[in-house]
Amino acid sequence: MIDKINKYLNDIDNFQSNDPEEIEAFRIKYLGKKGLLNDILREFKNVPNEEKPQIGKKINELKTKAQEKVNALKSSVKSSAGKKIQDVTRPSYPLEHGSLHPITLARKDIIEIFTRLGFTISEGPEIEDDWHNFSALNFPDEHPARDMQDTFFIQRDPDVLLRTHTSSAQVRVMEKTEPPIRTISPGRVFRNEAISARAHCIFHQVEGLYIDENVSFADLKQTLLYFAKEMFGKKTEIRFRPSFFPFTEPSAEMDVSCTLCGGEGCKICKYTGFLEILGCGMVDPNVLESSGIDSTKYTGFAFGMGIERIAQLKFNVNDLRLYFENDMRFLEQFKSKL
Ligand code: PHE
Repeated sequence: MIDKINKYLNDIDNFQSNDPEEIEAFRIKYLGKKGLLNDILREFKNVPNEEKPQIGKKINELKTKAQEKVNALKSSVKSSAGKKIQDVTRPSYPLEHGSLHPITLARKDIIEIFTRLGFTISEGPEIEDDWHNFSALNFPDEHPARDMQDTFFIQRDPDVLLRTHTSSAQVRVMEKTEPPIRTISPGRVFRNEAISARAHCIFHQVEGLYIDENVSFADLKQTLLYFAKEMFGKKTEIRFRPSFFPFTEPSAEMDVSCTLCGGEGCKICKYTGFLEILGCGMVDPNVLESSGIDSTKYTGFAFGMGIERIAQLKFNVNDLRLYFENDMRFLEQFKSKL
């Protein structure tokens, strides 16, 4: 009888399955009503008394072993349930591409066009002093022109402020460099404005400066015409309207023919056929002198544009706030523009 029990113990050890039906059959075979364990218990009655303790122990071992085996197999089936078999030949998901921000896209385009014309890129600090943001640019102390750009002051006397335009970076270039100077300054600027669809307290600019002997308004016009055509298409026309900036004389604002209707007149251009895109002018001799450039020898032109505005016209964005909200539904629309 001992041999029989040992054989069963061995069989139980060797049994393996992850099929629930097979496991149930195994349980019935050993532990069921008519199972092998009950057969053995019946035979046990006939075992001589002196052998009973030894064989009884063996039978208990058999019972526990069979029960443990069933439990172990059942729980391993349960834990592997729900795990799908992986198909290693399945093609992977297409990689999700991110997109560049529309401001980045427009800035890249603007920079690319001007570097093609030989302009270098100059950057300056966002936290500026009064000299570089105002005084060196011919804004006299207490002059109302300072109110044209509502300023965030960080400290008064001496004034420390957030730059209101990137012209401040160009003052630094003029102070350090002998003309000829041909540079553009892209960057973030700050003005104390209430946030609305048409104004924001943070925005981006690219300002340009060209100083050499005999630079004239014709050069300004030709450079900006080239830019407009490259940016908005060969058919683009430009027009200048007289304006005022303390650092340029004469000053102008430049419009381009409407990017939507091409000058016919539509809702976007308010039926004027033109859209304003930048300010420009001939550098005021006072500005050259402030930075140590001889204004009797050199002349120059300057211009400045808002990148948001250019992106608005290129991508038809009608609310400035969208640029700052990080709404994926907005940003994803620029995927194809990479
Ligand atoms: N700095 C001006 C502004 O921020 C733009 C400008 C630059 C105008 C150069 C004329 C010449 O509004």
